Amino acid sequence: MSDRIAVVTGAGSGIGRAIALALAADGDRVVAADLSAEGAAATVAQNPDRISAHEVDVADPDSVAHLAAEVAEKVGPVSVLVNCAGWDRTDAFLNSTPEFADKVVAINYLGQVHVCRAFLPAMVEAGDGGKIVNIASDAGRVGSSGETIYAGAKGGVIAFSKSLAREMARNQINVNVVCPGPTDTPLFTTQVDEKLQQSLIRAIPFRRLAQPEDVAAAVRFFASDAASYVTGQVLSVSGGLTMAG
Ligand SMILES: NC(=O)c1ccc[n+]([C@@H]2O[C@H](COP(=O)([O-])OP(=O)(O)OC[C@H]3O[C@@H](n4cnc5c(N)ncnc54)[C@H](O)[C@@H]3O)[C@@H](O)[C@H]2O)c1
Repeated sequence: MSDRIAVVTGAGSGIGRAIALALAADGDRVVAADLSAEGAAATVAQNPDRISAHEVDVADPDSVAHLAAEVAEKVGPVSVLVNCAGWDRTDAFLNSTPEFADKVVAINYLGQVHVCRAFLPAMVEAGDGGKIVNIASDAGRVGSSGETIYAGAKGGVIAFSKSLAREMARNQINVNVVCPGPTDTPLFTTQVDEKLQQSLIRAIPFRRLAQPEDVAAAVRFFASDAASYVTGQVLSVSGGLTMAG
């Protein structure tokens, strides 16, 4: 058992839940942080010895600062930070409103900025290095129609993570990005109709959606000592749907 402390945002559902369970299975003590207290509690119920539930709105810097203080006081020093909270509603760009754009950017891009800003000072101060894994999306690498503003926010996550990786290297803090392709979670299945799901599956070389555990496996690698010399990298977990040039 490693007994590291790992914070996972968006751990109340889908991919974040699978990441929390995978890290807990490796022996980490996991802070499952989510807007949904109910979702976080359901994750905790699957491994109550190693996971605790915490409520946070990543789009609100005060809420994130409160989470960082609570974790420092009640759980301990953080070694692993996984930014997985995310949100979108699929629609044509020309139907979007300024309010929608603000919300998408606030959750998917600025949320990760606020969480890193709140947790990094203590990680740097501790001097023990650490691992940050940011969940972006293949939409941020190759674009995705109907997800245009979200794709921009996720592209922002990629550029932010590479720059942060450069700044944090002197502190032995690795920053890497995982880009899920279409993944079988509520975010995907409630947004994409059955017909589009089937045509996407036909386009995926592995002919199936990712399961949340497929994405968690990549996060587990980036969060492990096996990835100690890997930083500023972007890994797609997409069954081959997207391939880097
Ligand atoms: N499912 C996919 O096909 C897919 C593809 C690419 C990227 N992603 C990314 O993977 C991550 C996880 O998505 P998922 O598919 O598991 O979705 P999900 O909807 O199942 O889970 C997202 C979780 O984030 C939480 N959340 C939303 N807004 C929040 C906020 N403001 N503060 C704190 N928590 C908040 C939700 O409550 C939920 O528990 C997201 O960043 C998403 O953009 C998903």
